[in-house]
Formats: sequence, C-alpha cells, structure tokens
Amino acid sequence: MSDNQKSDNQKSDSRKPEDAFTQQGRYWRNNRVELRAAGFDPQAVRSKPGIVTIGSPYTNAHRCNNRVRRIADLLTDALDASGHQGLIVGAPAVSDAVTQGTPNAGYSLVSRDLIADCIETGHRAHHANAMIVISGCDKVGAAAMMPLARTNDYGLVLYPGTSSPGSVDFEPWASKGNNLTIMDYAEARAAQQAGRIELLELETLEKNIMPGSGTCGAMFTANTMSCITEAMGMMLPHGASHPADYDAASDIHDDVKAQVQASVAALESLIRLRIRPRDIMTRKAFENAITVAYAMGGSTNLYLHLLALARDAGVDLTIDDIQAVGEKVPLLVNLQPHGPYAMVALHEIGGLPVVMKELLDNGFLHGDVLTVTGQTLAENLADVKTIAEAGEQDIVFPVTAPVAPANNHISVLKGNLAPESCVLKLSGKTLQNGEFRGPARVFESEAATLEAIQAGQINKGDVIVVRNVGPVGGLGMPEMVMLTIQLQGRGLGADVALITDGRFSGVSHGILIGHISPEAARGGPIAAVTEGDTIVINPQKRTLNVEISAEELNNRMKDWVAPAVAAAPGTVREKFTRLVSSAHFGCVQ
Ligand code: FES
Repeated sequence: MSDNQKSDNQKSDSRKPEDAFTQQGRYWRNNRVELRAAGFDPQAVRSKPGIVTIGSPYTNAHRCNNRVRRIADLLTDALDASGHQGLIVGAPAVSDAVTQGTPNAGYSLVSRDLIADCIETGHRAHHANAMIVISGCDKVGAAAMMPLARTNDYGLVLYPGTSSPGSVDFEPWASKGNNLTIMDYAEARAAQQAGRIELLELETLEKNIMPGSGTCGAMFTANTMSCITEAMGMMLPHGASHPADYDAASDIHDDVKAQVQASVAALESLIRLRIRPRDIMTRKAFENAITVAYAMGGSTNLYLHLLALARDAGVDLTIDDIQAVGEKVPLLVNLQPHGPYAMVALHEIGGLPVVMKELLDNGFLHGDVLTVTGQTLAENLADVKTIAEAGEQDIVFPVTAPVAPANNHISVLKGNLAPESCVLKLSGKTLQNGEFRGPARVFESEAATLEAIQAGQINKGDVIVVRNVGPVGGLGMPEMVMLTIQLQGRGLGADVALITDGRFSGVSHGILIGHISPEAARGGPIAAVTEGDTIVINPQKRTLNVEISAEELNNRMKDWVAPAVAAAPGTVREKFTRLVSSAHFGCVQ
C-alpha cells in the first residue's frame, strides 16, 4: 500500500497500530462493574483487543433480514474464537415488499439514514473499535457502508444473501426454468387481476416462487447495493450474490457461513495492515461501483444511495458524475428485470468477480484500488476465471457483444419539468422514434393512479404523471412499483410512460422517469402540469419537457400553494421532511 492510498486519519496516527486500536476499546473493556452486571467476565474481556460492533438490522418480520440474528451469533462466535469481543447493535430493517403500496411506504427511504444512525450510535456509545455490518433489504444494503464511512473505524460489510429462485411447470413461466423471482409473482398477480391468467396459476406461483429467505432475487435494489458494496471493495469477493439459505426450514447457506469466517479473518488483516474504510472508499472506488452497477443493470435507487454514501465518505460526487461514468458502460448481465435470470444463476458461474474481471480486462475499472481483502481489486481478480473460461452460458456477456450497448440503461435528464434532474430507466431498451411523446394523465397519489389503471382508464401512448410523492410530498419518496407492475401485468409496459417525483423499485421496468427534482411539494414545475399537456421524453438529448411556454409555466405556478406536511410533529417522517435534500442530492439529511 502506498502512502497516497492511506487516509489522512491514518497518516496523522503516529501511534503503533495495535496501541491505537486497543486504546479505543478501553472505555467498554475496563468498565468492570458494568461488564459483570451484563454477564461478562471482566478478566476475560480485559485481554481482548478488538471490541467489534456487529451491525444487526434483524427482524423476524420478513424474509430479507430474518437470517441476520443467526449471522450475528455466528459472527460473535467467530470473533470470540479469534480473541475479540463482538457487541451486537440493532437497527430497523424495513422491507420494501411489505411496505410498498401502503400508507407506510415512505418509511423505506426514511429508514436508510436511520439504520446508519443506529449503528453509528451503538458503535460509538459502546466504544467499539471495529465493525462488521450485516446488510440485507434495499435500504439496509444502502445504509450498511454509511457508519463505516462516517466513523472510518476498521470494518467491512457482510450480505445475508438473496432469495433462491423458484420454478413452475406451466407457461409462460416454465420456460424460464429455475429463475422465477418475486417480480414474476408480482406481475402475475396484476395479470390475474386483469383476467389474463387463472387464480390457480397465481396460487401455484405463490407457493413456488421463493422457497426460502433472502432479498428479492435478481438485479433489484438489494442486489444492486450488494454488488455496489463488493465493487467498492467493502465486501469480500463473491459476497454479493449468494443465496440466504436452501429453503425456509434450512439453516443459512454454507456460502454465508464461509463469508462469516472469512469476514472475521479479513477484519484482522485490515487492522494489521491499517486499512480503514476511507482508504477503500475513494473516488476511484465509487467510479468502480457505478461501472459495475451499470454493467449489472442496477436499480435507479443507486443514484440516491451513492450520493448519500459519498457525502458520508467525504468523496466529492454529483449526480452528473454518476451519469458521466455510467453512460460509458455497456449492459453485460442478463438478469431480471431486463433479462431472464435470477441472481443465484450468476452466483453459480462465479458471481460478481466474473463480471468485474471482464470490465477490468477491458479498461472499465480502476484495478489499483484497495479492498477489504487487503489487496487491490486487480489482485483479487487475478485468478478469477474469464467469461470464456466460465463455459457456455448466456448470463454474463462480453464487452464486445453486450446485452445492450452503453447509454441504454439509466440516464439523467433535465428540462423544464426537471430543472435539477430526473432519472430515466430504460434497462437496455430503446424508444421507438428516439423519443416518447404523449398526453399527460395527472394524478396526485399512487392510490389514485392505481385505481385509474385498474379501471382501464389508461391508454397506449399516455404519459402518467404521479406527483406529490417525492421525499417531502410522499413523506419518504415511496416506490411506484405497484403501478409499474400493473402496467407490465396488463401488457402496457412498452406503450405507456410513467413520470414521477417519487422513485422506483429495482423490480420496475418500462419507460420510467423518477426522482423529478425539485419535487411538486417543493414547488417543482411538475406541479404545474395539467391533464392533456404534451410530455416529451428524449433520451438522446437527455431532456424531459412539457410542451408549454415558460410564460405559461410561470403563470400556472403563480397560483401554486405548498401542500401541508401530512406527518405528525415529532414523528420520524416529519423530521425527515424538514431535513431532507432533493433526490438530485441523494435525499440526504
Ligand atoms: Fe427486501 Fe426486495 S423487499 S429486497
């Protein structure tokens, strides 16, 4: 490791590494009366150098994080066996699948910073000197690196795993093989509501789609964030794609157990080598993460979360920087929602390292950045098999013949409807005629839009405008996934555009624009759109416009009045609306 790879914090630390590290844990370790009362043996604890926070966003309420307690216990044992003390620190784990489409959907994004705050608080308040954070569902995955970035204490992230896929023996799903995910079920549910499939088929899908625990099983937001974490170098190689278990009745997957042991060993080597999170989470590492997320076909949520993480890591990164890196990257991986495969299919052919090797070999990644292995990214990938060596498969494509060429996944657009910015998700598809032009169908809530779609009131060619669902107006910027699922399930996904100041799930696909900033509730021009206005989306010019004059737009906004915040004073969501920045800046608080 060269000097310029070390953080300022590290350079100014002249103490011996062991002393600096051990000293930091003394307030907890030496508090004998408190240790005794809590059931610790003060004598045994005294000799332990590492007081390690185990960030544990555990709940038994949902499949995404219900394996976290088991992992935390295994980490505690592994740390103990290595002579360290693990201290479990709790945090909430909000499931998008449980909250989407409900009045509590806003708690999802709100929870991101809350989770990071909880782990940071427990870590500091217990005087720990290192950290292993267990991630999980979307916002937990987004939050996991934040306390590491904020504290810069030694540590890394461990992923509890994604859901194993399922299969059924009737079409159109049988031909997908063992690659069915929650997306297939959600779209089938919409198809059944529209009378396109039988109830019995839906019930069979429900029983077979997810055999056990784990996050949504393809390139949705949780796996986007696990890939970003591995690509950033903050998770061990091959750690972003394993299944959580074998089925709901089994123990956790052996690959997760192996990651537990390896993560504790990696933590020890990070301490020995004096490599702290900010030595790893550099500007180059962020660029690597963006590149990998685009090559994987990641969720639009990556924009919000990378901006927030960059703020916490002290890295100068803007939404335009993410676009500038991402637009050069071809779509290489054929996972849902844009392709047919589940995440576990990628894991079985070698996982993310196979994708990263292809990107590195073709000059898309910085190979000289440090990672939690203590080695550089290039060193980690040196012995990884190439796509050619992975054998015959159509899951990872080469840069020379990608799933889709560069600049066809997510783009940042601007225009008179999005003076700051918005994000367009095409997932490798292109728009006929180079643009989408259609009449605005304006709704003030997700529920009202859903009603209109289900009532058959949306026509091919329409541009659905859902507003007042941004960070402030939606009390946490809910995901409009129920709407995109309905459009897909009713066969309207290729013919209807949806634009919103809310956001999308990674499951969402179609012609979708989210994160419109400023949002309607803060006086953004999306508030001025009226039914029937012509909306024009142009990916080549990167514009989102409503075809009215600036004068007309201004006239309409003269009558605009900010809506009252609908959250009770003192609640988490009320605090969030007071503090939150626009999506253009990552919805940071
Ligand atoms: Fe948790 Fe999708 S709901 S990962």
